[in-house]
Amino acid sequence: MKILTILGARPQFIKAGSLSREIAKHSEIQEIIIHTGQHYDENMSDIFFDEMKIPKPDYFLGVGGKSHGEMTGQMMAKIEEITINQNPDYILVYGDTNSTLAGALVATKLHIKLAHVEAGLRSFNMKMPEEINRILTDRISNILFCPTKTAVKNLQNEAFPFFAGKFKQEICNVGDIMQDGAIFYSNFAKKPSFKIDESYLLCTIHRAENTDDISRLSGIITALNQLSQNRQIILPIHPRTKKILESSNIKIAPNLLIIPPVGYLEMVWLIANSKLILSDSGGLQKEAYFFHKNCIVLRDETEWVELVKSKFNVIGGTNSQSILNLYENFNFNKDFSVNLYGDGNTAKAIVEKLLAY
Ligand code: UD1
Ligand code: UDP
Repeated sequence: MKILTILGARPQFIKAGSLSREIAKHSEIQEIIIHTGQHYDENMSDIFFDEMKIPKPDYFLGVGGKSHGEMTGQMMAKIEEITINQNPDYILVYGDTNSTLAGALVATKLHIKLAHVEAGLRSFNMKMPEEINRILTDRISNILFCPTKTAVKNLQNEAFPFFAGKFKQEICNVGDIMQDGAIFYSNFAKKPSFKIDESYLLCTIHRAENTDDISRLSGIITALNQLSQNRQIILPIHPRTKKILESSNIKIAPNLLIIPPVGYLEMVWLIANSKLILSDSGGLQKEAYFFHKNCIVLRDETEWVELVKSKFNVIGGTNSQSILNLYENFNFNKDFSVNLYGDGNTAKAIVEKLLAY
């Protein structure tokens, strides 16, 4: 069996690490990897391939740093050519980035079976590019690998699974692929070499809705500046956020430590040893829970609603006062014994399904 895996952005490399390890156990499966180049800096891309021992991509498309239409269109043209040459049994895509949508559209137009890992997630905010990417990808996927019961329900509420002629869909709740990685890579966690206080908060910001709206970005930074008066804050910065902060006149307090993006092994260490996490990242909201940390979500809604419902996480928005109030007063759930994301064997379940489908 031949699987053509489409990767492009940091969280996809992290997810792919677990699945590639599982695929490598099966001599009957050949995985061909396309890296679209959506993320291209060394510490947004290569470092993950090295650390997670993902096989070197068979194709690198070099399509990064462009507008949505240009990026998606150029990716499609190149993925199409490779797909015709390789004629895979499956195209496999992860998550909700432009690379995901490009791979999905090519698969369906060439009548190649499409498998979507992290299907069924919804923010119900159509202004998010990710929401558009995931809805369209789900609609044309043959196998919808959902991470949670909520994701399955979201699909059922939208009348999934669809059948049309020979096109058929199947929904499988296989648990969350990021949990596999969190369990595996925690054994290799690496303390970063810069000076870290004993008690610190970990923060990331990169969502377009926050970086491209200066009032939202400045609301978050105002809250972080204030919090950093009593506690070190470590903020590994996404290149998108860095560029916008540098061209703004937003002031950064000295104890708000902005560092370049770190590799996953250092990130795992930083998560596991933090006091609390503040983030607009999809992946980090869950990793907080995997490592028994609470998280203030710097957004107005989330796809990971079960974490909010159980009070492990709280929606903080971007208003500085609201973030500070939640930090001081919110009664977080600290009993992490409940299992929300499966048993950490998601990669195995996905491979078994692909072989049986
Ligand atoms: C993308 C995904 C988002 C995901 C995020 C993970 C889409 C629509 N968005 O957002 O869902 O959460 O990746 O991090 O696909 N840049 C660099 N170097 C890099 C990568 C990016 O300088 O290695 C800068 C460039 O200026 C680029 C900008 O960041 O134009 C945005 O990158 P892009 O991939 O378009 O979107 P992300 O914000 O990274
Ligand atoms: N991450 C990392 N280094 C960093 C920042 C984040 O390894 O400097 C990891 C993080 O732990 C998570 C993933 O990158 O596993 C999330 O990526 P991101 O926040 O860019 O995307 P999202 O999950 O929001 O799509």
